[in-house]
Amino acid sequence: MRAAYLQFAPKYLEVDQNLAAVESQLHSVEADLIVLPELFTSGYFFQSKDDLREVAEPIPNGRSVSALQSWAESLEAVLVAGLAEREGDRFYNSAVVVRPSGEVDTYRKVHLFYEETTLFEPGDLGLRVFAEETSEGKPYRLGIMVCFDWYFPEAARTLAMKGADVIAHPSNLVLPHCPDSMPVRARENHVFTITANRYGSETKGEDSLQFIGMSEIRGPSGAILNRAGESEDVVEEVELDPHEARDRRINDHNDVLGDRRPDVYATQSERGTKSAGQCDS
Ligand code: ACM
Repeated sequence: MRAAYLQFAPKYLEVDQNLAAVESQLHSVEADLIVLPELFTSGYFFQSKDDLREVAEPIPNGRSVSALQSWAESLEAVLVAGLAEREGDRFYNSAVVVRPSGEVDTYRKVHLFYEETTLFEPGDLGLRVFAEETSEGKPYRLGIMVCFDWYFPEAARTLAMKGADVIAHPSNLVLPHCPDSMPVRARENHVFTITANRYGSETKGEDSLQFIGMSEIRGPSGAILNRAGESEDVVEEVELDPHEARDRRINDHNDVLGDRRPDVYATQSERGTKSAGQCDS
């Protein structure tokens, strides 16, 4: 299959401009799966809940999902993209999976970063893996996580345990460590990872966030298959065999998922038999 990411610098609250920018970058892409950044229609560093309310959309009946549906149909590709979701009075930092048929699924970011914790509800749909097909009919399993989810190894591990071959990872990365940590997430789970990041900066009062670019695709060995520059508009495509991720053996005796020992991982406090921080002796 061909897998791609799109990197650009969304303009704050300029939904129409952001949709137009993505549409012009996408027009010549030939891929089965295309991953766009987190919050790609709105920008990231919301000045207020009113600003968030202005751009957040119901899923699937918002204009951004509608644009994604028409791109997915015309490109014959599965698109994964991050956007601000509104459901009644609640907001979620969500990612949608949009197929050429127009069918849509949603993931709501579980691990909220920085001031997101004051704006969004934590994701309540769990970590999700979807059965997809390439344009040639090859089945593969697609897991979704959004940006800061990378910091918690349990997120990628859960997706791998649920059978993900490929993890799509829409991002607005600020911390510099992610591009060099994703090989570990890929390697320790034997999965492909596609991080689609943004670049540029956004300011709120005295506070400024710099987004680091460097979108990347990693193979199940952790190998870097492609990495973008720190500040460029770019779409990159890579040919990969998603089923390579299904062999989770490390050698003839070891298997990254099969050798897990959940019986020894949970601390006694997580099992409810000790209070947090209490050691064994
Ligand atoms: C982030 O989760 N957008 C850093």
